[in-house]
Amino acid sequence: MAESPTNPLAAPLPDGIVPAEVVARTERRWIKMMAAMLLIMLVVVVATGIAGAMHPPSNVEVIDPTTLHLRGEFVESNLGTAAEPDGSVTVRLIAQQYEFVPRCVTVPAGTPVMFRLTSADVVHGFLLPDTNVNTMVVPGFVAEVRTRFANEGEYAMPCHEFCGLGHHAMWAHVRVVPKERFANLTAVQRTNCE
Ligand code: CUA
Repeated sequence: MAESPTNPLAAPLPDGIVPAEVVARTERRWIKMMAAMLLIMLVVVVATGIAGAMHPPSNVEVIDPTTLHLRGEFVESNLGTAAEPDGSVTVRLIAQQYEFVPRCVTVPAGTPVMFRLTSADVVHGFLLPDTNVNTMVVPGFVAEVRTRFANEGEYAMPCHEFCGLGHHAMWAHVRVVPKERFANLTAVQRTNCE
């Protein structure tokens, strides 16, 4: 049998082997696609960052964090639990490195409770386990969460946004007492859990 005169390099590739040019073309396409995806994600991150800014997940209500202690809703005398005319209660707290002010609040069980929090310095977190209360506390904004505690008990939860060296020591304490007992507490007792 005569030897084949054709160049072996020009012979067709065996089944299943993809030619190098095809591989290179496919890889170039993938690189372009990946670059486009990265670009799209970058644009989304920047655009949402600029448009939505950073605020607590609850609502967008701004406040000047530098004058909290001087005037307005979050002056010291207005912090803690306040009974509203409609029977609900409002709890106002300030989060700051590294404590919640007041450190402990008392609320009645079986009653609508609205928490309003703001930060005096950096981003903190406020979360009460087994409830729907879980929010960031961002300086410049008021975080608002509504809940209702079915049973009495004590809720203790550390700040859950890293806020500095004392983060681990920053705890919120919420004490839930029966309605009747709450009604007999003084304003001071409601905010210091004594
Ligand atoms: Cu405040 Cu972590």
